[in-house]
Amino acid sequence: MIEKKDLDGPVELLSMQETTDDFATIFEPSCFDDYLGQHEVKNKIKVFVTASKMRGDPLDHMLLFGPPGLGKTTLAKIMAKELNVPFRITSAPILERTGDLVAILSSITAREILFIDEIHRLPKNVEEILYSAMENFCVDVIIGQGAGAKSIRLPLQPFTLIGATTKTSLISGPLQTRFGIVERLDFYQPEDLAHIVMQNADFMGIPCLPEAALTIGQRARGTPRIVKRIIRRVRDFAQVHNYNIIDTTVVNQALTFLGIDEDGLNKLDRAILTHILQDFDGGPVGLDTLAAMTGEDKESIEDVCEPFLLRIGLLQKSPRGRQIPAKKIPYLRRKLLGQITPEQSELF
Ligand SMILES: Nc1ncnc2c1ncn2[C@@H]1O[C@H](COP(=O)(O)OP(=O)(O)OP(=O)(O)O)[C@@H](O)[C@H]1O
Ligand SMILES: [Mg+2]
Repeated sequence: MIEKKDLDGPVELLSMQETTDDFATIFEPSCFDDYLGQHEVKNKIKVFVTASKMRGDPLDHMLLFGPPGLGKTTLAKIMAKELNVPFRITSAPILERTGDLVAILSSITAREILFIDEIHRLPKNVEEILYSAMENFCVDVIIGQGAGAKSIRLPLQPFTLIGATTKTSLISGPLQTRFGIVERLDFYQPEDLAHIVMQNADFMGIPCLPEAALTIGQRARGTPRIVKRIIRRVRDFAQVHNYNIIDTTVVNQALTFLGIDEDGLNKLDRAILTHILQDFDGGPVGLDTLAAMTGEDKESIEDVCEPFLLRIGLLQKSPRGRQIPAKKIPYLRRKLLGQITPEQSELF
């Protein structure tokens, strides 16, 4: 993401309009029709957006949560487009001081959408500024220092806050209750991801067969961002090998080349599962140990790998750590360690 540094103001991310041109070669959904899958959430949000548009009121504050790459930011941008209101994007880790947030809030225009990514990472004192901003469209700021300090109330334009998070458990109660709409994005079905493959292949002008799109959909960890990454790499692979159509054979060869297996697992997923299996006999094992053994940081393991492994039932979390469910151990031994099970050995 591109950063615009204002010398005496907060660090702000460029608005949507300013960033899209840089990525004109990559397809980005810009309306509800382009946003595929997530039917339930999308239908609800369409109603809220239409109602707000009819009344001319700002959309209610909204909290979107779900694992990385499922389309939280994209959905927020689409809402701004559909409502025809300005969209401003920022991220909690760069809002270090209360002044950073106050500067943004005080320049917000009526009905504007302010999108705060990773909202669970707001420092407590910055988060507290949001309470009155969200509830009463005002902020209290302290002017001066010591005995002469006084508090003044700054009115704000009525706006919409959209907060995005991968971890709702880390959002404080007072903040969560101030969102009128809370929606969860879940992993996508392979069929929906196959539509996203076709959408992107069409945009890039490469013919892709529906069954090839479904194969990618099945191996993309339920995540549009991964679909987009795979289809671009498959295109590279096809181009270099002179294939002018993407079929299942090309996809299978490309996925093997990329190290993505038939369950959608990548190298890091396999390393995690292999360590738990080989070194800890299936677990439980702590996150710190796994991070040290794989050389990966804890956040990537926890935010990117684990949600998918948990979802497909290859991993379980318990108070004592991560473990592989007993019934999956024979399958993973075969898959990762090439070991045959006692039942199989009877066949030989
Ligand atoms: N429903 C969808 N239909 C088509 N493309 C989508 C959809 N959802 C997401 N995408 C595409 O997937 C990519 C990732 O989406 P996005 O950046 O919105 O995810 P995110 O949930 O905000 O992720 P993060 O938590 O990492 O910020 C984008 O390039 C977007 O164009
Ligand atoms: Mg995002």
